[in-house]
Amino acid sequence: MPLTAKREEAIERDEQDRLAPYRNEFYLQEGSIYMDGNSLGLLSKRAEATLLESLADWRELGIDGWMKGRHPWFELSEKLAALNAPLVGGSADEVMVTGSTTVNLHQLVATFFAPSGQRTKILADSLTFPSDIYALQSQLRLRGLDPAEHLVQAESRDGRFLDEADIIAAMTEEIALIVLPTVLYRSGQILDMERLTREAHARGILIGFDGCHSVGAIPHAFHDWGVDFAYWCNYKHLNGGPGTVGGLFVHERHFGTLPGLTGWFGSRKDKQFDMDHTMTPAENAGAFQIGTPHVLSLAPQIGALELFAEVGIEAVRTKSLALTDYMMTLVDQELTPYGFVIGNPRDDKRRGAHLSLEHPEAARICKALKAHHVIPDFRAPNIVRLAPVALYNKFEDVYEVVSILKTIMDEKQYEQFKNEREVVA
Ligand SMILES: Cc1ncc(COP(=O)(O)O)c(C=O)c1O
Repeated sequence: MPLTAKREEAIERDEQDRLAPYRNEFYLQEGSIYMDGNSLGLLSKRAEATLLESLADWRELGIDGWMKGRHPWFELSEKLAALNAPLVGGSADEVMVTGSTTVNLHQLVATFFAPSGQRTKILADSLTFPSDIYALQSQLRLRGLDPAEHLVQAESRDGRFLDEADIIAAMTEEIALIVLPTVLYRSGQILDMERLTREAHARGILIGFDGCHSVGAIPHAFHDWGVDFAYWCNYKHLNGGPGTVGGLFVHERHFGTLPGLTGWFGSRKDKQFDMDHTMTPAENAGAFQIGTPHVLSLAPQIGALELFAEVGIEAVRTKSLALTDYMMTLVDQELTPYGFVIGNPRDDKRRGAHLSLEHPEAARICKALKAHHVIPDFRAPNIVRLAPVALYNKFEDVYEVVSILKTIMDEKQYEQFKNEREVVA
């Protein structure tokens, strides 16, 4: 089928798409195609509204916004935790919206890393996001342990994917704690969290997951899988706004464990304002909060998460898989002659929510895409990441992006740019 005929197919699929009306909920720029929702999700009108309502509460109520606002700030983190919970497969008590990804990782490792006897090491992987590695290294240093010896990173065989069997083989009697991504940020591979958790527990090891690239994109069952803890950001697939407050999950079997980093907002809510110097921690994941919530950064999440409550994560996943599958078909047919390699899993069970197109000229191909008002992101050294997002991208967007990429390659338009990354890629 020629590429032009495929536009008709894309339009037809958009007409049948039950989620298509949600596109109007978002601010999309005329003439531009956004494919970077896995780095920063777009602003929705509902997120904007709840942010403005919280600003109005501050303007009109001052301190009384804590209890009498339209979205009372004192209970806001708990309210958002309840909206996050179905997305991660936990109860509202097991989830808290607080801190940021890296800060929550520090909190959870400070809590759950208990080196003793010969179990003094942390197991991570060689493809994970650098901030996680920096956090794990510093947590080891704080315990007087040398990261060069005590941080073990499971290797990848091909630089793209991890084999669960290799991670399991690294679960030795020296490992006290495991921290892994749910979805790899470059290749978009989903790790088998259930299996890894089962294998870790069979060896007496605690395990936690970084859910940045999966929460809001794929369903999870953290509670049923028995995952000990997880943490994620709310600014990618959840569209909560740049740098918005993150999320964490602590399995209920750990309720009552004293957090490694304590602060007054981790108190039982009815006790917090007793101002006692003996802390009474919350009896759920709320205990892992530290200080005063960043209210204006939380506020857009109310509207943003409402959309997920309405649509349901299963429907989001179904459309996301259809979009990435459609994109892979077009890439195979149209772009492989130009040297593109699909570097993400093809299998639905292992594919996250973005495509990872490998090409030696990736940095300048991304710049050429931007010149066409297509927003991808670049991951060094050779990846064009493209995330067609279920709530606001169309099948026609996917068609357009592939057809623009074909023009860029046919006409060698990328040669007008330097093959170097920008400061923020
Ligand atoms: C997989 C992953 N982990 C951790 C982080 C760090 O998140 P934060 O800067 O919110 O702490 C990011 C940020 O993009 C990420 O993608």
